[in-house]
Amino acid sequence: MSTVNVRVAAIEQVTPMIKHFTLVREDGQAFPTFSGGSHVVVAMDINGRTHRNAYSMMGAPEDTQAYHISVRREERSRGGSVFMHDNVVEGSSLQITLPVNLFALSKLGRKHILIAGGIGITPFMSQLHDIQRNGYSYELHYAFRSPEHGAFSGQLKARCGDLAHFYADSLGRKLDIRALLSAQPLGSHVYVCGPASMVTAVLETARELGWPENHIHSEQFSAPPTGDAFKVRLAKSNIEVEVPSDITLLEALETAGVNAESLCRGGACGRCELDVLELDGEIFHHDHYLSDAEKAAGRKIMPCVSRARCTHMLLNI
Ligand code: FES
Repeated sequence: MSTVNVRVAAIEQVTPMIKHFTLVREDGQAFPTFSGGSHVVVAMDINGRTHRNAYSMMGAPEDTQAYHISVRREERSRGGSVFMHDNVVEGSSLQITLPVNLFALSKLGRKHILIAGGIGITPFMSQLHDIQRNGYSYELHYAFRSPEHGAFSGQLKARCGDLAHFYADSLGRKLDIRALLSAQPLGSHVYVCGPASMVTAVLETARELGWPENHIHSEQFSAPPTGDAFKVRLAKSNIEVEVPSDITLLEALETAGVNAESLCRGGACGRCELDVLELDGEIFHHDHYLSDAEKAAGRKIMPCVSRARCTHMLLNI
């Protein structure tokens, strides 16, 4: 995947947990434009190991001078978000991929219903640029813990007026997903990004109400969990790769120089899928891509998020 070296031009503490990073190119060139809902992958050197995390693009897609991402501090993750919060300062250099879109707006949608929870607001920040520029019909519904955790809510109020609805849990305001989806005209599309419970609730409710599958869109980058170290053998090169406890199988393959495919790095897109040829242990599936039957069969693994406990695993790569 093409990468570009960037410098952190500005950092803003948006909420107690979220920082907004403004990135500019080191070489002074213009960035490519992108489409709302795109993400980039940021490479971080942490204790001599390369971690790569995906972050949604927040800025205007036609802005070629700066890219914008926001990072929520996750204490219990592998360290990428803590590194971004504690080690990255204005002037720091980073390497990012060019934007890829796995959460694009459907141009055919009659109306777009955007549902965000917490840091899940970020892809909608860029999607709203596309929606407003094209004059699409839409509503934004944004839920968060308490007013101080509602990142960018002032800006969204100004940009969207009455079309933005805010739900602060601490004030007892709850989003009624069923009522919201029941009230939409035929031909509407729904988009959800946020915690797993919210994504599941929206997907299940939309399906129960008979929304067509291709009108339902979700984005959920799982933070890859840590776990026990394990080893895999690669069938094509017959090399053994050790996967330490704090990096993913995908990162271990990349560190070993293996040309492994990836896109979302969050268990959502399916691009990194690998066939498991032999296994004498257990796979811990953390993706949203494989079906329950595929997970139970243990013949496939998504190395961006899933791990294993085994003494022998042979992968078809
Ligand atoms: S890279 Fe998308 S599922 Fe692994």
